[in-house]
Amino acid sequence: MNSTDAQAWEDYWERTRRAGVVPEIGARDPALRDYWLAFFTSCAFADDGRTRLLDLGCGHGAVTALAESVARNNLRHFRITCLDVSEAAIDLVTAQHPAVAAVCASADDIPLPDAFFDHVVSQFGIEYAPLEAADEAARVLRPGGSIAFLMHLKNGAIWEECRTNRDALEGVHDSGVLPAFIRLIEEALALRQGRGTRDAFEQADRDLAPCVQAMEGVIREHGKEIGGGLVFRTYADIAHMYRKMNAFEPAEVIAWAEKVEAAMAAWRERMQSMLDAALDETALTAWRERLAAGGLTVDEPARLALGEPARDGAWILRGKKVSR
Ligand SMILES: C[S@@+](CC[C@H](N)C(=O)[O-])C[C@H]1O[C@@H](n2cnc3c(N)ncnc32)[C@H](O)[C@@H]1O
Repeated sequence: MNSTDAQAWEDYWERTRRAGVVPEIGARDPALRDYWLAFFTSCAFADDGRTRLLDLGCGHGAVTALAESVARNNLRHFRITCLDVSEAAIDLVTAQHPAVAAVCASADDIPLPDAFFDHVVSQFGIEYAPLEAADEAARVLRPGGSIAFLMHLKNGAIWEECRTNRDALEGVHDSGVLPAFIRLIEEALALRQGRGTRDAFEQADRDLAPCVQAMEGVIREHGKEIGGGLVFRTYADIAHMYRKMNAFEPAEVIAWAEKVEAAMAAWRERMQSMLDAALDETALTAWRERLAAGGLTVDEPARLALGEPARDGAWILRGKKVSR
């Protein structure tokens, strides 16, 4: 993976950690939860309670949390290792799941011994890494052990949701609304301090109007919920501050606008990286072949239906390492 992608994830998880909320697009679907509950239940009953599990691209531990709950309910225990390329994600997961071992590394270079795990799992994680991650997953799996990966499906439900969000956030960026609003506030401040002119302020005001209209167009096209509601919230905040301009401290408004712009840019980047990571049948075949070359028997891939109404949303890739 390139270092820009790794940095984008680090920024995302760092921001998430500071905000204390996880706005995970698509990943809250009950079908994902049901899938993992069924998978871990089968592991918990089949194994002896000392089962080693690796969660690749663990994020804040959505899958790990489900493994722990199944183990608890069955009076079993999984020895879980969480791996993620982001240090901030690792901090989040260890804060919430103190019993897990955590490793900050890329999935294509796992600093753990051969044949160490009984199960290697991943939910929308491993496909962000290069294909060598398949070799690594096979290497760290013990003979007889299994893999279960839910992977981004190109043109599937989550993919489309990401694309719509990416397009909307790009639309807001292209509208230039935040830089135009910052300019207006700067001119208002200059005027107040006797440095600026009425003309310059009015020009900045006129320049803002088409940008706001373009933003309204994005909201009309995609709805108020787009971008997790951030687009509409930003629109409403701009309108409020515009109406009561003198009630706000200009430096604080400018700092707010710059922060929102950075948050939208980061989100846009993350949507793009999800779109890039998604697999069509050809790309999925490449993963299957690499796993098979690593000694796994890989099932025919299936598709997991997500959303309401249900639509194909993720690939299911399952396999077992051939026993010696
Ligand atoms: C879409 S999130 C999924 C997180 C989690 N599995 C979930 O379902 O909520 C993708 C995760 O993969 C991680 N990631 C991206 N590239 C990676 C790589 N090369 N190796 C390991 N993890 C990676 C990101 O930091 C992020 O936590």
